[in-house]
Amino acid sequence: MPSRSNNPLADKLAASLADGTFVRLVLSSPVGGEVEKIIGRLIALKSGRHLSLTYRYPTRDVTKNLPLADAPAWLRNQVPRTFRSALLGTTRADWQLHDTRLVRHKPLTTEPPACSHDHSRHRVLGNAPWLPAHPDKRRQIDRYAEIFSHLAQECRWPAAPVIADMGCGKGYLTFAVWHLLRDRGARVIGVEQRPELVAAANQLAQQISATGLEFVPGTIANVELPTLDGLIALHACDTATDDAIRRGITQKAQLIIVAPCCHRQIRPQLGKPEPLAPVLAHRLMAERMAEWATDGLRILALEAEGYRVKAIEFVASEHTPKNLMIAAIRTGKPGNGEQVAAFKKFFGIQHHAVLDGDDWTPPAPETTKRHSSHGMPNER
Ligand SMILES: C[S@@+](CC[C@H](N)C(=O)[O-])C[C@H]1O[C@@H](n2cnc3c(N)ncnc32)[C@H](O)[C@@H]1O
Repeated sequence: MPSRSNNPLADKLAASLADGTFVRLVLSSPVGGEVEKIIGRLIALKSGRHLSLTYRYPTRDVTKNLPLADAPAWLRNQVPRTFRSALLGTTRADWQLHDTRLVRHKPLTTEPPACSHDHSRHRVLGNAPWLPAHPDKRRQIDRYAEIFSHLAQECRWPAAPVIADMGCGKGYLTFAVWHLLRDRGARVIGVEQRPELVAAANQLAQQISATGLEFVPGTIANVELPTLDGLIALHACDTATDDAIRRGITQKAQLIIVAPCCHRQIRPQLGKPEPLAPVLAHRLMAERMAEWATDGLRILALEAEGYRVKAIEFVASEHTPKNLMIAAIRTGKPGNGEQVAAFKKFFGIQHHAVLDGDDWTPPAPETTKRHSSHGMPNER
């Protein structure tokens, strides 16, 4: 039997599920344990409507679906026992519960969200014509969009937010984010250096009358853009990811989400500090460390600039080995710039594109390795 606690929000939740005014549920301030937050939304399954609960762990999300009838008892069991705070969004009011104190706020939205369907793999986006045909890419876009929509709820965006997708390619993700935000009057801009991709994406946007969606040719570092509320990038090559982060920071974008691609800038700079030197003498280990250091510095740079950052694997590695996602929400409280300097100093890194810009000539590559008589490369 779940223990019943004094939780006045449970009755509000039951009422909102019954009369169709439910918008969302967010549990935060965990009392202990690993789960940082639980986010609830309505979902339609074959067996009827459920409350879909996303359990947010430090590096992953786990989803559980709860029959609506069980939701109030579940909430009573969670707050204040495992979470101290809960927010119930309804179309009439937003209710904030902290411990046992319930406060009413104006509703964030007066429109109930569409109850999404569980298409098992492709839950958020349905089957739009702009989605990629390849299942792995499709999975990436779907998960990215799902995470984007969760994080967007945490941002205090204006009514018509402006979002840029940097290095958007054919625009799969740009279309997806526009699709998620189209009812909010959002302006979504895809930035791409290849003009033929920009032309094709604009043509498709016109065909489907996608108001608020546009694709512009140019480079991430220099293209002219309005003030951004959010910035995203999926597999923007090499330092294009850094250019994107840098533009997001400069613009004070509230939300920055990048999933990096290849890494080239740090590898030739990476020193061999003790006691790592004998390990880094192995080329593969040095390459992996360079990738780790590149992304590590991206995280530290964002934190130093006043962002709360999470690094997660956004899809399983079978869908792409480039499955790291760095998601950052601006808090405005600057972090510790000394950590960035210490990290660079430790690895002997002189230049990182997020911190120092793109205008830099890397040192000459390492000399070619020789091969030993038994066919193994001599790496030391
Ligand atoms: C690997 S593709 C990814 C495309 C898209 N984001 C996706 O995941 O489907 C990288 C794209 O970024 C573009 N790109 C790379 N560097 C860029 C830059 N500095 N400015 C603008 N676009 C860039 C490339 O032309 C390419 O289309």
